[in-house]
Amino acid sequence: MQELVPVLTEEEIERTIIRIAQSISLDYKDRDLILIGVLKGSFIFLSDLVRKLSIPVKIDFIQVSSYGYGTSPSESIELKNDVGIEIKGKDIIVIEDIVDTGFTLEYVINHLNNSEPASIKVCTLIDKLERRETDIKIDYSGHITKEGFLVGYGLDYAENFRNLPGIFHLKL
Ligand code: IMP
Ligand code: MG
Repeated sequence: MQELVPVLTEEEIERTIIRIAQSISLDYKDRDLILIGVLKGSFIFLSDLVRKLSIPVKIDFIQVSSYGYGTSPSESIELKNDVGIEIKGKDIIVIEDIVDTGFTLEYVINHLNNSEPASIKVCTLIDKLERRETDIKIDYSGHITKEGFLVGYGLDYAENFRNLPGIFHLKL
């Protein structure tokens, strides 16, 4: 039987988002900021985050999918939908729901770098630090977790549970 164990409440997530939004608003004052959400998991986090920013911002999305990790993890990631707006010379923050090994983010950053943005930083709501296998740097991090598989607030298990307002540990 599946069991959902509460990890973060709506209120805790909101406080975290306010903290991150304040940092970003300060760091990118008078800059030309574009936030790029990694679909699908980041859609709720991004939409809550942008409404707490006090600076102008442009928003776009990129969608990637991974097909399990074989001998070369980066080769198992596929670009499904590219960004649509011009990012050359712009300051970018990539918005992720959760960073685990870091292979997805590494792929996204390498891909975006081909378009020569002025800068790329990374923001994630959940950082599974202990399982990192790449040396990507997280610039804005909401929560570090050791828990197992998390669902809710955009995070899914086989496309389920994205709509839960809080974040839960899924025990199978
Ligand atoms: P990475 O490439 O190993 O960093 O994995 C990143 C992607 O795997 C995330 O964008 C999620 O889509 C998915 N993922 C990793 N851990 C979890 C989890 O605990 N819950 C839901 N999705 C996860
Ligand atoms: Mg994701």
